Amino acid sequence: MSSPEPEMPKTYKTAKAFCLTSAGWFTMATSAGMIGAGYLIAPDFMANIEWIHFGRIRPIHVNINLFGFVTPGLLAAAFYFLPRLLRTELYSEKLGIVSCVLWNIYVFAGVVGIGLGYTQGREYAELAWPVDILVGISFGLVVFNLLMTVRQRKEPILYVSIWYACAAVLLTATTYCIGNVIWRPDTGALLGIPDAIILWFYGHNVFGLLLTPLGLAVAYYVLPLVSRSPLYSHTLSLIGFWSLLVVYTHIGTHHLLQVPVPTWLKVIAIVDSVAMVIPVMIFLINIWYTVKGKLGVIYADIAGKFIFTGTIMYFFVNIQGSIMSLPQVQRVTHFNNWVVAHAHLGVLGFAGMTALGGLYYILPKITGKPLYSRFLADLQYWFVLIGVVGFTIGLTIAGLIQGNAWINGEALYRVLPEIHIYYVARASTGLLVAIAAYLGLYNVIRTLFFNPGVSR
Ligand code: HEM
Ligand code: HEM
Repeated sequence: MSSPEPEMPKTYKTAKAFCLTSAGWFTMATSAGMIGAGYLIAPDFMANIEWIHFGRIRPIHVNINLFGFVTPGLLAAAFYFLPRLLRTELYSEKLGIVSCVLWNIYVFAGVVGIGLGYTQGREYAELAWPVDILVGISFGLVVFNLLMTVRQRKEPILYVSIWYACAAVLLTATTYCIGNVIWRPDTGALLGIPDAIILWFYGHNVFGLLLTPLGLAVAYYVLPLVSRSPLYSHTLSLIGFWSLLVVYTHIGTHHLLQVPVPTWLKVIAIVDSVAMVIPVMIFLINIWYTVKGKLGVIYADIAGKFIFTGTIMYFFVNIQGSIMSLPQVQRVTHFNNWVVAHAHLGVLGFAGMTALGGLYYILPKITGKPLYSRFLADLQYWFVLIGVVGFTIGLTIAGLIQGNAWINGEALYRVLPEIHIYYVARASTGLLVAIAAYLGLYNVIRTLFFNPGVSR
């Protein structure tokens, strides 16, 4: 019989580093979003500042959100819960810190690169080749660290959060390299239609195989603990996991319904986009039954509140997604603000809120002290909620105006005055989200480094 291992002091350095990364980049992402929103209200606003004009600030905003704010926030929680669920230590905290430093370098390099005009010009795959390599290495190190932690586990049963978290990083490390065509450093692209197909295979999988499984992993971990209820069904959770992998992986072509891609590919994309209702509802039924009757407890907990709201947004964004994959619907909704509304509902409303909930769940655990300010966290919750709901309503209306006007043959520029007011509304509610990000960073820094030990 082997001797009992000495209890190692848990430092949670990697989880802390990813918390800080997420909170820090959230402020940058929203600041960039405000500049972008400003340009859409007044296109001459800061017209001569090349490195932040709309064509550059938009991908800067999107990349920081995806890779600076949301993913690191969800990873912070994963670095905390994986070892706990597996009853072991993280394989290597040192490796974790190295991966987090590299992660920040690639986000920074990507942002500066796009600002200077170094972009591969493909949506969600803008980053230049050397940065792509850094992304690959960073993801690779995270994958290695998490899988080695699984390997040294003392707990034989793998809870569903572990499946989701490991699948998310492993699959994204792969789809990132494929979608960014990293074997072609000069262009990072194929030619013509095959390039569009491969790009959107990867593009939608940023949401389907990265943000969604990581978000579900966090929700599956935190909500049962906060509500002090056992998971409603483990079997259902695993059926949901495998059906998500089967259905989500190849629906990217629903971004290309207006493009001459092969019809069979469109049919697969549409059918499976509708079939997404299966994994989505399996997750929601499972998690909502788990917390049934405990909404008071959930609401009283800041992490529970963020993540439960995230599940509601998850419901709406996915139902909306399935509907807008239908060609008849997309004739109205494609290429206008409807899609931007959907994007914010999914990336901020579902994944972003879940990431924030994850941060607030782990911060007291990894510091051993209460959150610096529960009041600020609550304020952040309301600001983000009002922001997402405001974005969704305003941009959806703007999208419907645009879509219908174009179907009626109106010239693009003639519609702009009609939607101006919705751009102003987006910037106004956006300001709340930006303030929320700065409040969050302050709260995270105070909790991590200057923690008085009593919550304010
Ligand atoms: C059932 C699941 C979903 C389906 C079927 C779906 C469907 C779609 C479709 C059809 C589009 C393209 C619209 C167009 O260009 O006309 C789209 C765009 C988008 N979706 Fe979803 N969606 C789903 C879930 C999600 C989730 C969970 C997220 C975020 C976590 C998300 C984020 C986005 C984003 C950011 C875009 C904008 C892409 C762009 O820049 O064009 N979606 N979605
Ligand atoms: C201060 C708050 C924010 C403002 C003012 C803002 C503004 C904008 C603007 C102006 C665009 C470009 C839309 C266009 O091309 O017409 C955009 C795109 C986008 N934003 Fe934000 N945003 C904010 C926060 C966020 C956050 C926190 C997230 C995610 C966590 C996010 C995710 C996205 C995504 C995924 C897109 C791409 C949409 C698409 O391709 O359809 N935004 N945002």
